[in-house]
Amino acid sequence: MSESIQYELHELDMLKVDVADELLAGLQQTQKSIAPKYFYDERGSELFTEITGTQEYYVTRTEIALLKQYGAEMAACIGPDSLLIEYGSGSSEKIRILLDQVKPKIYAPLDISRDYLDSAAVGVATEYPWLEVKAACLDYTQPFSLPFALLDNCAGFFPGSSIGNFTPDSAIEFLSRVRNQLQDKGGLLLGVDLKKDDVVLNAAYNDAAGITAAFNLNVLSHINNLIGSNFDTSQFVHFAQYNDKLGCIQMFLESLSNQRVEVLGKTIEFSKGEMIHTEDSFKYSVSEVELMARSAGFNEIKSWTDEKGWFGIFYLF
Ligand code: AVI
Repeated sequence: MSESIQYELHELDMLKVDVADELLAGLQQTQKSIAPKYFYDERGSELFTEITGTQEYYVTRTEIALLKQYGAEMAACIGPDSLLIEYGSGSSEKIRILLDQVKPKIYAPLDISRDYLDSAAVGVATEYPWLEVKAACLDYTQPFSLPFALLDNCAGFFPGSSIGNFTPDSAIEFLSRVRNQLQDKGGLLLGVDLKKDDVVLNAAYNDAAGITAAFNLNVLSHINNLIGSNFDTSQFVHFAQYNDKLGCIQMFLESLSNQRVEVLGKTIEFSKGEMIHTEDSFKYSVSEVELMARSAGFNEIKSWTDEKGWFGIFYLF
């Protein structure tokens, strides 16, 4: 590693036993489920990056356009010399749009996928030698303590509408944890995918090239590697559809046959057509976001949306 970069990587070990318990419990429910955080091994993170480049997945390009158009206003909300914490930093692409304007002292990317985090964070540290990069490998969906000290000015960055992958109640819990973590030293810049025509939504999660399908199926390979289960990925197919009543895209893996899978010494039986629930992606209206933010204890909200009203970025403080 070059001497001129300012970089550290903290690893907060996820207990293997928790992972095993959580996965087994999900697969033993009547509605079998796998939590969406298990999408993100290295391959899953790569596939997600590919999804963001598909024509159908408007989410990323719409948010990026907003960051480019209104970055200076967002930077003015955050102020200089901050500790800028990104929850679920992935490829750290979006933060690059803001860094030159926000000029934080420290950038802290947090992500569950260790190798992906490491290479993305080293990339940022190399490109921005004036910036201290303190990466932490952890599961930000659970309560955790930051492995480094806060500064007088702190801000959170949670783009990509990952907030939509929480249930509405756990989204409020997550937002209040962030608020407590920032300790009145700054606010949270939050990207949220907004409610829209379900034709647009269904296309975004069923891209013609099948990248979302590969991303969804990869969760089975990931957990095979993680806990030694023997899912046969050729025996499941991707299914995604907007559920108007719940206000979310729901993703499932459908079993193509009656089959048995060995998971941690237990046999899990699937009937043909049975679904494993893998993800909900909630879509909100601007007023629903405001309500959620206030329920989490944020008092002030500034927002930016695109012309079609498809995506919103909110600064909550
Ligand atoms: C990361 N998250 C916001 C994505 C979403 O749109 O819910 C994950 C995703 N799932 C399928 N396509 C993208």
